Amino acid sequence: MNEAVIGAEHQFHDRDYALAWGERFSPTAQRLELFELVLGELRRTVPADGRVVELGIGPGYLAQHVLQAMPTISYCGIDFSTPMLEIARTRLHRHASRITYLQADLVRDDWQDIVDGPVDAVISTWSLHDLGSQQNVQTVYAKSASALRGRGILLNGDFIRPDGATQVFEAGRFEVDRHLELMRQTGFKHAKCLALLEHDIESPTSAKNYACLKALRRMNP
Ligand SMILES: C[S@@+](CC[C@H](N)C(=O)[O-])C[C@H]1O[C@@H](n2cnc3c(N)ncnc32)[C@H](O)[C@@H]1O
Repeated sequence: MNEAVIGAEHQFHDRDYALAWGERFSPTAQRLELFELVLGELRRTVPADGRVVELGIGPGYLAQHVLQAMPTISYCGIDFSTPMLEIARTRLHRHASRITYLQADLVRDDWQDIVDGPVDAVISTWSLHDLGSQQNVQTVYAKSASALRGRGILLNGDFIRPDGATQVFEAGRFEVDRHLELMRQTGFKHAKCLALLEHDIESPTSAKNYACLKALRRMNP
């Protein structure tokens, strides 16, 4: 990645890289704030025996936060990285009876047809910007709408390009309003931004500027 571009290159299929990523990004207070926002919405909308799907589960930090707080839901964690899925499986072994793992590419594979339904929520943090383009994010929003089959909530806590920034951002990091527009175009209603975290337009880095975005599934797209 050109240093002038805000973003990062990853080798998520490499075991050492995945382990190092998980250690480097163990949740900070600000990221726990994001997890709490996601959890608050899940508590309000997902029934006690509901089902949550996480896109890009990575090392499993969000899953751990949610599964501990919601002791009777079931969970499906999706990722295309074998080492990330192994790390998540180890971290989440206490919740093994309630969690399934699906190795899939979020853009290319038809994971929305494979996850067991009915799905009450599709959630994700810090993952969809890695898909590399607005079009790929749109594809994944559409697949999420399909997985939800006419009901439920989408929560995406991801890196964005803050309004007013003058720097160049990688293509997967784009404005909140565009995310909300894509959500509406793919079958969601009431799309809104709940919060901007580590907001910094003066000296943004690849680990700053993420939003908590929420939308509800619309019956007729
Ligand atoms: C930056 S990590 C974030 C992990 C986790 N969500 C968190 O917040 O700690 C992004 C994760 O998304 C996964 N990922 C990226 N692109 C993907 C794709 N096209 N399909 C499936 N998983 C993908 C990576 O393997 C990685 O585990």
